[in-house]
Amino acid sequence: MIIRNDFPKLWAQIDIKDDIREKLIMHAEDILASDKFHLTSTFIQHGDVSVYEHCLMVAACAIKINEQLKIKCNERALIRGALLHDYFLYDWHEKSWENSIHGYTHPTKSLKNACHDFDLSAIERDMIKHHMFPLTPTPPRCREGALLCIADKFCALKETLKGKGELKKKRALNK
Ligand SMILES: [Fe+2]
Ligand SMILES: [Fe+2]
Repeated sequence: MIIRNDFPKLWAQIDIKDDIREKLIMHAEDILASDKFHLTSTFIQHGDVSVYEHCLMVAACAIKINEQLKIKCNERALIRGALLHDYFLYDWHEKSWENSIHGYTHPTKSLKNACHDFDLSAIERDMIKHHMFPLTPTPPRCREGALLCIADKFCALKETLKGKGELKKKRALNK
């Protein structure tokens, strides 16, 4: 099994249970071991959460919902699509016109990068392309994509609220 040296180091800061970790490695070792995917750890998604951490948490959340609600998604596709759904590889917080429409454009950019770097199934491609629904008008065509939409929004909300909470705490301490 090929695992990059800093792979465990990155995971040490992320709260993911062992059974979920095993599933991630089993279905997406090529993604997790790639230098390009590791680049996502250098970009912030929400609050102080990196894109890397966000994508891992979304994949973990999607696995849990799939198991608990017995949705019977293709687990391999669910994990791979979730890991790569925000594979846009730039800092979207920098002020620019392009970044002002990031919410609408990053699914297509992520899909282009992901197709360039990894072998993806039709389900995985559909998941990435339509994960911002309903902000982007076309819904996903598969249940894996619908589940990704839910897991992504749930994690994004959690990360944003956590970030706001920490900002409040810092402000209160500085008073
Ligand atoms: Fe996204
Ligand atoms: Fe996301």
